[in-house]
Amino acid sequence: MGNYTIAVLPGDGIGPEVTDEAIRILDAVASRFGHSFTYQKRLVGVAAIEAEGDAISDASLEVCQRSDAILFGAVGGLPSYDGSHKVKPEQALFKLRKGLQFFANLRPVKPLNSLLSASPIKAEVLRGADLVVVRELTGGLYYGHLEPPVPGKPSEIRQTEQGKSAIDTLLYSEAEIERILRVAFEAARDRKKKVTSVDKANVLSSSVLWRQVANRVAADYPDVTFEHMLVDACAMHLIRKPTNFDVIVTENLFGDILTDEASMLAGSMGMLPSASLGTHETAHGRLGLYEPIHGSAPDIAGQGKANPIAAILSAAMLLQYSLGLKSEAAAIEAAVEQVIQAGYRTEDLREEETKVLKTQEMGQKIAAVLAQ
Ligand code: NAD
Ligand code: IPM
Ligand code: MN
Repeated sequence: MGNYTIAVLPGDGIGPEVTDEAIRILDAVASRFGHSFTYQKRLVGVAAIEAEGDAISDASLEVCQRSDAILFGAVGGLPSYDGSHKVKPEQALFKLRKGLQFFANLRPVKPLNSLLSASPIKAEVLRGADLVVVRELTGGLYYGHLEPPVPGKPSEIRQTEQGKSAIDTLLYSEAEIERILRVAFEAARDRKKKVTSVDKANVLSSSVLWRQVANRVAADYPDVTFEHMLVDACAMHLIRKPTNFDVIVTENLFGDILTDEASMLAGSMGMLPSASLGTHETAHGRLGLYEPIHGSAPDIAGQGKANPIAAILSAAMLLQYSLGLKSEAAAIEAAVEQVIQAGYRTEDLREEETKVLKTQEMGQKIAAVLAQ
């Protein structure tokens, strides 16, 4: 039995819809296991820009820093805040990730057996797939060459004599590469003991350095099988034979793109959770930021069509990684599996002979299983 404080940042579009369901599940866990969760809800994204002048205020950032864990929905996607707007809702993510030094983003991909037919990939290719992408989250193209690195800044469009030009810089230090590689190897030791380091070393200098550091770190883990793979080939192999992978470790943008692709192995963007971790300690463990990998999905927002499972599984990761509540996390995963197995789906996973539920109904079904 424990008391925990969770900062909750629902955000834009379907963010609040799916976050409400994650909270419903945390409440169900609290009553079943006798815990108490105090939620500190704060504005983030468009609502925060309009009310507080920033995508996330410093006061909210402090609430996050003082919490035991952070649950995040999604930001962005409103036409009034497109790429040309001065303050972008997405900056909330950069402020959180960089500000709280969440350099390791874990994105597990484990297609449920009862969902294999919902994926566009053949069931026989998917069966047994169980991988995690360890995405570097505070460096690379997202942050550029300014010291201290400022997201957005190096990619500003400039007027030159030849017309407009823009630049993004892909910078990694040895220390940044080494710490993310170590996260990957440690994760592999608890799994199938294989690491695939993904880069573009045939073109990029940052990838050549990445390989050198990766080789050095790999030597410390002789019990783990290690390979390098070029990112374009990886995009292909992920679909060709996903069961060949265990832990994939890669730079920020490659990890972003590969995980949207990998979500199709699990059937939908609405199925993939994530945990972002750093070194910040709390009374209960390590501070972490937990969010689905998907965005605010403006095309389906407000219609009850959003799949809340990615958010719910992110809450399970929160319990496991930041609060050390492993059985509680496992109970959520089992409840999700049971509900899917029973043929309940949201719109994104609609198939013949399934029962399609609204976002809230899906949350209620999973909560009901947890309450049994
Ligand atoms: P998106 O992930 O929001 O949506 C991509 C597609 O997947 C859409 O068709 C959407 O309907 C579907 N989808 C996503 N989540 C779903 C769910 N839970 N259930 C059912 N279907 C789901 O990506 P996008 O449309 O390219 O981006 C929209 C906005 O979201 C952009 O502003 C982007 O910057 C932002 N974004 C934010 C985050 C985040 O906050 N972490 C992540 C990704 C994108
Ligand atoms: C994600 C998102 C973000 C990213 C965007 C919204 C900045 O796509 O969390 O995957 O690229 O990191
Ligand atoms: Mn993304």
